[in-house]
Amino acid sequence: MNIAVVGAQWGDEGKGKLIDILSAEKDITVRYQGGNNAGHTVVVGQKEYVFHLLPSAILHKGKVCVIGNGVVIDPEVLISEIQGLEKKGIKVSPRKLKISGLCHVIMPYHRVLDGLREKKRKNKIGTTGRGIGPCYADKVARCGIRMIDLLNPKVLKAKLEDNLREKNETFRKVYDAEEYSLNGIYKSYLKFAKILEPYICNTVIYINEQIDKGKTVLFEGAQGTFLDIDFGTYPFVTSSNSIVGGICSGTGVAPTRIDKSVACIKAYTTRVGEGPFPTEFSSRLMEQIRKKGNEFGATTGRPRRCGWFDCILGRYSMIINGIDELAIMKLDVLDELDEIQICTGYKYKGKTYKEFPMDYEMLCAVKPVYESLPGWKSSTYGLQNYDDLPKNAKKYVKRLEQLLKVKVKYISTGPKRDEIIVR
Ligand code: GDP
Ligand code: IMO
Ligand code: MG
Repeated sequence: MNIAVVGAQWGDEGKGKLIDILSAEKDITVRYQGGNNAGHTVVVGQKEYVFHLLPSAILHKGKVCVIGNGVVIDPEVLISEIQGLEKKGIKVSPRKLKISGLCHVIMPYHRVLDGLREKKRKNKIGTTGRGIGPCYADKVARCGIRMIDLLNPKVLKAKLEDNLREKNETFRKVYDAEEYSLNGIYKSYLKFAKILEPYICNTVIYINEQIDKGKTVLFEGAQGTFLDIDFGTYPFVTSSNSIVGGICSGTGVAPTRIDKSVACIKAYTTRVGEGPFPTEFSSRLMEQIRKKGNEFGATTGRPRRCGWFDCILGRYSMIINGIDELAIMKLDVLDELDEIQICTGYKYKGKTYKEFPMDYEMLCAVKPVYESLPGWKSSTYGLQNYDDLPKNAKKYVKRLEQLLKVKVKYISTGPKRDEIIVR
């Protein structure tokens, strides 16, 4: 069975942990969008690994990891991630890792433009500054450079020449910033290409042939549904389709071959960067949950904004992604609370809404309508059996199931691999 794992909120739901667990039973794990804006944490024993571009299954022996065409690759970052793992004794051979030749490449000018654009904006997005948006923008504008282009010096040079003519003019005239020399980029990207060449292949053919042979695939979502370029809290989103639908265009695998979709949801809500967040905590709870949940960005280290669980977002996510099963992550973070709120509606100009609004101004102005549940006030940390959960924790899980209309299959109770309840 081929399964999709996606984030149902604003990212950082705990996808890395769940994917590490679920990928143990799959042959291949595939990233399909995003880039090194992602930070997926896997904790095994006392060791913590954070993956930005490598799929979260990379620690498993004998499994194959694929970076699909929908991902944007910063080659320098990818190389240092591969080398970092090898230093820890985990070999990343071309048999283990396959990179699509169609992936677009993040260039130095993308990273710089990301920052310059943010600086100019009054309403900042709070991007990760990794060049993600500008790289995807070039892809759509048909001037992007793909991994396969890095293997052909003539093509690379011609594309770089074209790009730099335009980019340098923009740097000079719009941003009063430094220009790039063709030679510098050309030489360093040819070097990256040499290192990455053995991994580059036609992953569309590879994945589909493996499925034909009966091999199983896990599709690893990055970011979350409300960071999706189409369905998220636009413009405070990332530049790719993080939803299940993004898998097909991001891998070349047809929708009929995705058998099941699992959503990762945090037992509360977090978001990094700017943008509307109706259930955001006020300062006291913010500090408490941030500290307990260690809510600091795995990529940029920024403190994450925290808030109550929002069923308006949650239910919309279930619909958009066609979710079959839920994984509630970080339940243990709520252990000490007297009372837990769930947002079940948005109030706006005297009316209560049950649907996620399309209008940005409305989303900024809505007041959440809460339902209150009693806390369980005891430790769930590390629990592995559903029956061992305190009564009120079960009540919370059941209420989320009712509101989201999807069954909860996994309940995560700590960062480590085995700290999970499977129902
Ligand atoms: P991702 O981007 O969705 O993969 O999530 P991140 O790795 O960015 O953030 C999730 C954080 O929560 C990581 O530090 C995980 O180690 C941690 N984590 C995952 N599941 C649990 C859990 O059930 N309980 C606790 N306390 N921490 C968890
Ligand atoms: P994972 O995969 C949380 C956010 C950024 C910013 C917005 C746009 O770890 O869940 P970008 O650099 O993508 O142009 O930034 O998206 N963002 C994330 N937030 N988790 C992520 O990934 C994110 N990737 C991007 O903070 O608000
Ligand atoms: Mg993350």
